[in-house]
Amino acid sequence: MLNGKSILLGITGSIAAYKSIDIIKGLRQEGASVQVIMTKASRHFISPLSIEIASDGNVYCDMFESPLSHLSLPADSDLFVIAPATANIISKYANGSADDLLSAAMLAFSSLSRPMIIAPAMNWKMYESPVFQRNLKYLISIGVKTVGPERGSLACGEEGIGRMADIGRIIEAIKGSMQEQDLAGDNILVTAGPTREYIDPIRYISNRSSGKMGYAIAKIAKRRGAEVTLISGPTSVVPPDGVNIINTETTNDMYKAVMDNISWSSIFVMSAAVADFMPAETKKEKIEKGDVSLLNLIKTTDILKEVGKLKDRPIVVGFSAEVGYKIERARRKLFEKGLDMIVFNDVTADGSGFDVDTNEVVIIDREGERKLPMMSKEDVAMKILDKIKGIKKTYG
Ligand code: CTP
Repeated sequence: MLNGKSILLGITGSIAAYKSIDIIKGLRQEGASVQVIMTKASRHFISPLSIEIASDGNVYCDMFESPLSHLSLPADSDLFVIAPATANIISKYANGSADDLLSAAMLAFSSLSRPMIIAPAMNWKMYESPVFQRNLKYLISIGVKTVGPERGSLACGEEGIGRMADIGRIIEAIKGSMQEQDLAGDNILVTAGPTREYIDPIRYISNRSSGKMGYAIAKIAKRRGAEVTLISGPTSVVPPDGVNIINTETTNDMYKAVMDNISWSSIFVMSAAVADFMPAETKKEKIEKGDVSLLNLIKTTDILKEVGKLKDRPIVVGFSAEVGYKIERARRKLFEKGLDMIVFNDVTADGSGFDVDTNEVVIIDREGERKLPMMSKEDVAMKILDKIKGIKKTYG
């Protein structure tokens, strides 16, 4: 998605500087060209040669090796990312200092109204300093985006806030800044993952959903500028930045969370794999093996159908994961549940099952259907959201 984009990366003197190699690799894999400026301090942590190899020779260290590079590098770049960004570079930028190539280029870039992202990395005592916080707040106030830092064990062995954000989060922030914000103003409610219906305090009925598809929809919707609320069943997927998360366990929890949030949503995507049955009663004590015949199952609330019946409902999208190419079941659910769109997939097809990062789906709406080739779940999310936008336009 970064095809043709030119990214300028500033590396400063933090122990996290070695991770810059992965940022460069990740950006180039997405199709971006990357130019790098290294400060003198950063070269204590990683060699310019390593960065030169990773960036295909596009590394600059000195203000005077190419006289106007502090102006030409910013002018040629769509986005400037500083990762890791030390307290020193943040303070220099906040105060307009331009005494080396990186700070001079940042100053020049600030006049161009293009996105700048910083990923702070430092000891927690520096991060929490009121002086540093004043500088950081000033940068945020002029439109600089920050990603991280994270809390955890720091290089010096202490625990606290100050670790550079995970590379995936930094790359996602860059993609978000390069993406057209065509869903700005939309409130999207997404459900993801399985539900658990408790038999007793130890056992439950559930299913194999990983939650990856719903999380991908939340991530891409956020990237496209929507306000996103993600109601998640138990999963191990890392939630995207900037998304409101509501954790739920049972279908009843999820139903309540959906109903509590539906009235301010413009789009509702029900990608959770709700357990269809629940025990009529959850026993307070562990049931004996011999009592299995006492297990009485009843149907869970059909959350999607209930939303479909609402008078003032948002655009409603469901999923239909079937065993085999039983697309007629999806078509039936579209009408029976009062949906605007349903996404069908055959979980037995290669690359479409549980726990994989790809999916092969058919998007069905009231006008017709479109079969998509196998693609990543993030690309499927992109297509689903494109289609939802089409429906929005029809509604007016
Ligand atoms: N769904 C729901 N509440 C339920 C069951 C399903 O909201 N109790 C939603 C799912 O999240 C999905 C859609 O309904 O978006 C279709 O789910 P699916 O399990 O395929 O269909 P069911 O209605 O459960 O019917 P069946 O199990 O007979 O296929």
